[in-house]
Amino acid sequence: MKFSVLTLFPEMFEPIKKSIIGKATEKNIIEINLINIRDFSEDKHKKVDDTPYGGGAGMVIMPDVVYRAYLSIPDRENAKVIYLTPQGTTFNQSKAEELSKNNNHIILLCGHYEGIDQRVINKIVDEEISIGDYVLTGGELPAMVVIDTLSRYIDGVLNKESIQEETFSNGLLEYPQYTRPETFLNEKVPDVLLSGHHENIKKWREDQSLTITKQKRPDLLKKT
Ligand code: ADE
Repeated sequence: MKFSVLTLFPEMFEPIKKSIIGKATEKNIIEINLINIRDFSEDKHKKVDDTPYGGGAGMVIMPDVVYRAYLSIPDRENAKVIYLTPQGTTFNQSKAEELSKNNNHIILLCGHYEGIDQRVINKIVDEEISIGDYVLTGGELPAMVVIDTLSRYIDGVLNKESIQEETFSNGLLEYPQYTRPETFLNEKVPDVLLSGHHENIKKWREDQSLTITKQKRPDLLKKT
């Protein structure tokens, strides 16, 4: 799967080059292509923004610069273009699964300042996504959230069981996990997990998932 990111701050994406996503890019399972919008400014000072028509605070990113940056993406025709904005549909696990299953190439457009001129949004954007009801200074962190969440569904990034058993995959939160030592600060690992009895372990984990979901996120149980 390929992600092309249109951003004014490509250096913000360093963290995503590490760990699991970093390994997946090294193995060419996923490709992250960072495009610096500023490289497409035709101004001698590399200006990318201007004051809003009609007045108001802040600066607006100019449409032509963004459009040239978009046109520089060679295989853009078959890609889905997502604009990260607090006005978008709220991102969640099922949206992540749907996007990763239905797209080979996603273009992520990151805004900054007061936003991007509406005309280029109208021209190139297929979908708007928000990562939650709060306002960030730009779309870079949301774009990394989207890349990370979608990548976990790509074959070879994780092992299959960790996707099937994790939080939200069955609409419930995940059961608690334990590892060595058997006793930590006087608290012992639940006996059932040491029993080797697979049926009982499975049942215990299902019960735990349900109890924890009831306690922490009762809203999830009402959704079906
Ligand atoms: N840009 C600024 N805030 C955002 C949010 N909550 N989600 C997506 N993009 C954003």
